[in-house]
Amino acid sequence: MRPDYAEKIPNNVGLAEDRRLQRALESWQPNFLSWWEAMGPALPTRDVYLRTATDVRGDGWATFGHVPMLDYRWGIFLADRDPGRRIAFGRHQGEPAWQKVPGEYRAELRRLIVIQGDTEPASVEQQRNLGATAPSLYDLRNLFQVNVEEGRHLWAMVYLLHAYFGREGREEAEELLHRNSGSEDSPRILGAFNEETPDWLSFFMFTYFTDRDGKYQLGTLKESAFDPLSRTCEFMLKEEAHHMMVGTTGIDRVVERTAQVMAENDTDDVAARGAIPLPVIQKYLNFHYSVSLDLFGGETSTNVANYYTAGLKGRWLEERRKDDHQLTGDAIMVDALNDGQISQAEVSALAGLNTDLRREYTADCAGGVKRWNRILEAAGLPHRLYLPHSAFNRRVGAFAGIEASPAGEQLTAAEWAAGRGQWLPTDTDKAFVRSLMHPVRERGKIAAWVAPPRGAPRGGGINDQPFDYDYVHLA
Ligand SMILES: [Fe+2]
Ligand SMILES: [Fe+2]
Repeated sequence: MRPDYAEKIPNNVGLAEDRRLQRALESWQPNFLSWWEAMGPALPTRDVYLRTATDVRGDGWATFGHVPMLDYRWGIFLADRDPGRRIAFGRHQGEPAWQKVPGEYRAELRRLIVIQGDTEPASVEQQRNLGATAPSLYDLRNLFQVNVEEGRHLWAMVYLLHAYFGREGREEAEELLHRNSGSEDSPRILGAFNEETPDWLSFFMFTYFTDRDGKYQLGTLKESAFDPLSRTCEFMLKEEAHHMMVGTTGIDRVVERTAQVMAENDTDDVAARGAIPLPVIQKYLNFHYSVSLDLFGGETSTNVANYYTAGLKGRWLEERRKDDHQLTGDAIMVDALNDGQISQAEVSALAGLNTDLRREYTADCAGGVKRWNRILEAAGLPHRLYLPHSAFNRRVGAFAGIEASPAGEQLTAAEWAAGRGQWLPTDTDKAFVRSLMHPVRERGKIAAWVAPPRGAPRGGGINDQPFDYDYVHLA
C-alpha cells in the first residue's frame, strides 16, 4: 500500500478507509502534541534539518529538509507486507503469519507492545533539556532527529494498540502519555528510562548502550508471528540505525578529543584543559552498560520461554539460526549465584532466552569498545577502555543481590562502598562534565571536549552536507 502523506496522519495502513481507527487516532493526536510541547525538546527552534520518512521503500524513508519540529510528519509506516510470510519458530512454526491478534495471546501481545512503546517517549523526556548545551549545531540536529523518531516510534506502537486491541488498547495509548520519565507517581516502566540524561556524554552513552538495547528488543519483535508488529518493528529498526550512529560516533569523538589532549600534553590530566579524562569516560560507560544490561530482564524467564513457544517474540536474527527453532531439547549456560558466589548454571535454552539476547547485545557493545581503543592506540596511548563484568552494578537478575567490581570480583558491602566512586560517576565527576556543557551555536564551531565528526568542516555532516551546514535555525 502506498503511503498517503496528504493525510492529517501520514500512513501506509489505509487509515482513510478505516473510520473507527481514524477517529481513535485523531482523538489521541492532540494529546500527543500537547505531550510533545510539554515534555519534548525544550529549546525553541524555527526549523531543523530533519530526515522524514515519506515512503518505506527505496530512499523515500530518508527525505531531508528544514522543517519546524511540530510539523514533522509523525506517521504510521509499516514495512511492506510479505504475503507469503510464515512463522519461523515455536509451536506455530510454518503456519502463515497472523494478520489479527489471536484471542489467547491478546494480553501478552498488548503487554509486549506497551513495554516497547513506553521506552520511546521516555527517551524524549530524558533528553528534553539537552538542546540547551549542544556542543555544535550538527549535534543539536542529531539530538532532534533522534527525538522526532522516538516520537514516531510511539506513534507506531499506539497505532498497533488502537488498531488491534480495542478499548484496552486505547486506554494503554493514553497511559503512554501519562507516565513520565523519573516521575514519582507514574514513572516509566523500565529502570534505565527513569535515569537522567543531564549532559552530552550521558546522551552519547545512552544512544550507544540503551538505544542499542532497543535495537535488540525490536529485533525480537520483528520476528513476531503477529505480522503488523513484525512489519512495524522492521521499519523502526531502519530509523534506529541513525541513533546507533549518533552514539557510536559521539563516543568516538569524545575519546578522540581526550586522546588528542593527552598525547599533545603528555598527561592524563586533561580536565584542566577542558577535555573529559578517560577514567570519567570509563565510569559513564560502566554506568550506562550496566543499567542497560538490566533491561534484558532476569537470566531465566518462564514468560519469555512462553512468548517464544507461542511465536510472539523470537530471537535476534531467528531465521539465520541453524537449529530447529523449537529449542525444546537445548540447554544454555547463564549467569547464576552458586552458594552465593558469582557463577554460571545450565538451564533449558527456552528459559535462558533473555541471556541469549543479552549475549548478542554484549558482543555488539564490545565492537564499540574495540573502536574506541583503536582511537587510543592510534594516538600512541597505552590506555584502554573495557566493558564491565555482567555482575557489576546490577539491579535485575542473578546478581542483583550482590556487589562486584568491574573485573567481576565479588565484594562485601564495605568494599563496594569504598570502591564505588572509582567505578561509577561521582557527584564531582558529574559536576565536572556538566561544567563543560556550554552550548556552541555558531556554524562550523564545536565545544572543546569533543572532536568534530571525521571529514569536518567540508564534509562529515548529515546527508553529505558539510559539518558547518546550518542544521538548526533557533527561534
Ligand atoms: Fe525508538
Ligand atoms: Fe532509538
